[in-house]
Amino acid sequence: MDGWFLWRSGQEEAAATFPSGSRFVEVGTYLGRSLCSLAEVAQQSGRLYSIIGIDTCLGGGPDGSEGIDHYASAVNEGGGTFAGILHRNLIACGFADAVSVIVSDSETASTFFADASLDWVHVDARHDYDSVRADIAAWLPKVRPGGWLSGDDYNSDVWPGVVGAVRDALPQAQPWSTGQWRWVVPPATSRRWSRWSSQR
Ligand SMILES: C[S@@+](CC[C@H](N)C(=O)[O-])C[C@H]1O[C@@H](n2cnc3c(N)ncnc32)[C@H](O)[C@@H]1O
Repeated sequence: MDGWFLWRSGQEEAAATFPSGSRFVEVGTYLGRSLCSLAEVAQQSGRLYSIIGIDTCLGGGPDGSEGIDHYASAVNEGGGTFAGILHRNLIACGFADAVSVIVSDSETASTFFADASLDWVHVDARHDYDSVRADIAAWLPKVRPGGWLSGDDYNSDVWPGVVGAVRDALPQAQPWSTGQWRWVVPPATSRRWSRWSSQR
């Protein structure tokens, strides 16, 4: 399946860390590569999780240093949306029942969840500075104390916007898994931090 996904070890750590009943959100699913992997990791763990993928299914437009639109062919193939391809891929992987998909932009979807109601949110949508800042501001309040907020492409050479946004919004976030960043929401300060971040 086409896509970009390097954080299988992070998914395995999540499945070893969070108990059954935990709720995971992946923002930016594209055709379901990382989402199918997460469902497989969950299945192999024997634990039952709620797994929710969020994507506009419209692609992110030109991105990266070369400004290439990697999503256009899938959007065109699906007649203006790759939602059908994503869903067919989940069915083909055998995980259509294990995973729920919300076709929405990231910020709108975040409003569907109560504050501190999610255990792990992984962000892999647009990679420019403003988009990553907006994703962090939208999703950080939704992660419970002790939960994880993380994201893809933590690489200053290729994705300086990601690294800059994480540095400015979550200065104590750490490199994690393969090319990822992660912030473990601290119990005592999470609500104060959430308010601070979402106001910026
Ligand atoms: C790098 S791809 C995700 C790759 C995916 N994790 C995989 O395993 O292949 C980024 C995705 O984010 C989606 N996206 C971009 N901006 C978005 C937004 N504001 N809200 C939701 N999804 C968005 C795009 O449609 C695209 O599918």
